[in-house]
Amino acid sequence: MAGPLLHGRRILALGASLAPHAKGPLLGADLEMGGMAQLAELAAVPRDLVLIDADAWEAPELAAAVKTLASLKACPPVLLVGESLPAGLVRNLLRLEHSDVLEAPFTGEQLAAAIQGLMAEAAPAAAPQPAVGESRCWAVTGAVGGAGATTLAIEIATALAARAKGERVCLIDLNLADGAAAAYLGAPAAMRLADFGQAAERLDAAMLQAFVTPVSKQLDLLAGVRDPGAFDAVSREAVLRLLEVACECYEWVILDVPRHRRSWTLEALAGSDEVLVISELTVPALLAARAYSDEIEASLGAGLKPRIVLNRLASRMFGPAPSMAEAERALQRKAEAGVSSDWEAAAASANLGGPISQHRPKSKIVKDVQMLVERLAGAPVRRSGAKAA
Ligand SMILES: Nc1ncnc2c1ncn2[C@@H]1O[C@H](COP(=O)(O)OP(=O)(O)OP(=O)(O)O)[C@@H](O)[C@H]1O
Ligand SMILES: [Mg+2]
Repeated sequence: MAGPLLHGRRILALGASLAPHAKGPLLGADLEMGGMAQLAELAAVPRDLVLIDADAWEAPELAAAVKTLASLKACPPVLLVGESLPAGLVRNLLRLEHSDVLEAPFTGEQLAAAIQGLMAEAAPAAAPQPAVGESRCWAVTGAVGGAGATTLAIEIATALAARAKGERVCLIDLNLADGAAAAYLGAPAAMRLADFGQAAERLDAAMLQAFVTPVSKQLDLLAGVRDPGAFDAVSREAVLRLLEVACECYEWVILDVPRHRRSWTLEALAGSDEVLVISELTVPALLAARAYSDEIEASLGAGLKPRIVLNRLASRMFGPAPSMAEAERALQRKAEAGVSSDWEAAAASANLGGPISQHRPKSKIVKDVQMLVERLAGAPVRRSGAKAA
């Protein structure tokens, strides 16, 4: 499916074989099938991108096409695809301001990535401007599966966006294979980090913009398109570069970090000002939270102490449950905060798609998260020094 960058964009496609892509990687774009004649009209009828299938045309026609494009005052980005791409033609094409080639056979993902790369490169003005001053990054991670890390990361990001007027917040779901943040928000996931392979340095602010899903005026989401192989396919460099660029572009970056350690986990945590370990008030979860926090501390040195947030606190406990004091004894540290249990609000919001603060603003979860956010945002920045880089 098309990334947000392609929605409604006018693409002139030359070559009948390109038509089926309208239902695939170009979905959402305004795709017009045309011929060489339309190129001559580009000055009068501008398009956002020209896509040419080199295999559909004879060499002289292609040469003339590139010549026409080169003569335009404002030439749109041009992508040439095909099996036989004559060197001379490619050389002339690449002299255009924004152009690229893609050798056939290619996948829909490769076509989408090439187009998005070109469009992003051609529209740097639309890219987020670097944030003024230091950005702040908070990592949220669950001590056990289902502790509520994703739910709370979303609520924290939303609360920050509402609190910090004029400041932009980016929520990054680092559960690259099957993250749930996009589904909880009812938003399409648009990030394809695997496409970068080893070329992580290509990822810049404009490219980031192609991956972003806007959630509200101040909140953007970066979430990977579902891909069971993503953890193997995405390089450590690509993840760290993503975090670096996000921290340059947004005042606030909230990470939903999977609890199983990856090659980039420690650096991502080390680059965060706060690490929130989400637990529940059950003995196994508390023991896991303690072990997990100890591991993070031991790996990162004294620089950063994770803060434990106890989620789903019920006002009336059913069956034996530890008290807060017992919980802190089991944790061997103080809990930073508690978040009330409200299954109806959490489930309804996930089903409707959107934060709890939008669908159930009166829920205790919203109030508890607001208090946590106020306290942490108001506290002096704890920086371990090593921003992810
Ligand atoms: N405070 C809460 N009250 C009630 N339900 C909650 C609360 N927080 C989270 N939930 C619910 O708990 C379930 C698990 O939450 P979530 O997916 O956020 O956990 P997670 O830690 O991200 O899980 P995973 O380990 O799969 O990433 C969801 O159904 C969510 O709606
Ligand atoms: Mg999760």
